[in-house]
Amino acid sequence: MSKVAIVGGAGRVGVSFAFHLLCENICDELALVDILEDPVMGERLDLMQSTSSLCNTRVTASTDEALLAGADIIVVPAGARRKADQSRLDLIKVNFGIIDEWMEKIGRVNPDALVLVVVNPVDVLTYRAWVKGGKNRQRIFGLGNVMDTVRFKSYIAEFYGWDPRHVEGQLLGEHGDAMVPVWSQASYAGYLLKDMPDVKQEDLDAIFAKTRKAGAEVIRLKGGAGWAVGVAITEVVRAILKDEKRVLCVSSVPGGAYGIGEDVSLSLPTIIGKNGVEGYLNVNFSDEEKAGVAKAAEVLKKTYEEIA
Ligand SMILES: NC(=O)c1ccc[n+]([C@@H]2O[C@H](COP(=O)([O-])OP(=O)(O)OC[C@H]3O[C@@H](n4cnc5c(N)ncnc54)[C@H](O)[C@@H]3O)[C@@H](O)[C@H]2O)c1
Repeated sequence: MSKVAIVGGAGRVGVSFAFHLLCENICDELALVDILEDPVMGERLDLMQSTSSLCNTRVTASTDEALLAGADIIVVPAGARRKADQSRLDLIKVNFGIIDEWMEKIGRVNPDALVLVVVNPVDVLTYRAWVKGGKNRQRIFGLGNVMDTVRFKSYIAEFYGWDPRHVEGQLLGEHGDAMVPVWSQASYAGYLLKDMPDVKQEDLDAIFAKTRKAGAEVIRLKGGAGWAVGVAITEVVRAILKDEKRVLCVSSVPGGAYGIGEDVSLSLPTIIGKNGVEGYLNVNFSDEEKAGVAKAAEVLKKTYEEIA
């Protein structure tokens, strides 16, 4: 019996993920939790009505944290939207409060669940969740750059007219400006991009620049990301439910991996299975890539210290 819960289940990200998860038919129960009662009940009803065509998943909803009991994975996109007169820092403080609130509730109701933080800024909030949730590196982690990687690969494929499913390439470090593209390993159909004469680094740099701004562009055009982030969360949840041992660049507290300790959460090539974070893939990155990851760690540590 597998159960996935979403805190913030009435929001755009929560619902996009919920729908994609139902399409995959990989869990027995999907629980939506939110502070807004009518919207969360409405989303439950709408999603439940799709199940006869999609899956054998029971869809439940509540404003009460008791519904989190028994969940294997709790996904947390719950967050406040920025008000017109609010600074970015004030918004972050509000979301810190939401993480504190829900880690306390999860600790009471379901302390053994895996927790996947999605709310932004995802790396510092994952670190906060890790601090508040008993400092368990395996169990508490964040979406990190999985979302950006999904976007990045789609952009590369669109530019070259390739099949997007055959592009490989990860983005490490921060889900933000200090994101690091791993050009040394990026490939298409098993061939390294750096060994392909028709692939020019200046074009790749432009694609990366577009990826970095992609979140802001989607917000400008339609208010916020939904489909791609829903797909990205599903990649992580599927890897857990199916114990896939997939390598995904989630955000986690490295605890020594790649020379990074326990004072930051960031994206590394991480092995994901039924126990959550099960290890890191050891890769010889270029000096530039290593320096980029070290810089991201410094930036994120500083941001956390400013807010906490
Ligand atoms: N990590 C990523 O890659 C990524 C990608 C896209 C969006 N995000 C982030 O995900 C978050 C959610 O985005 P969205 O577009 O779904 O926003 P949204 O406003 O549509 O949804 C947020 C939901 O959280 C709920 N909520 C607010 N406070 C709550 C609380 N205290 N307890 C429980 N629920 C609460 C709201 O009622 C709402 O339903 C934002 O922080 C956004 O920046 C992250």
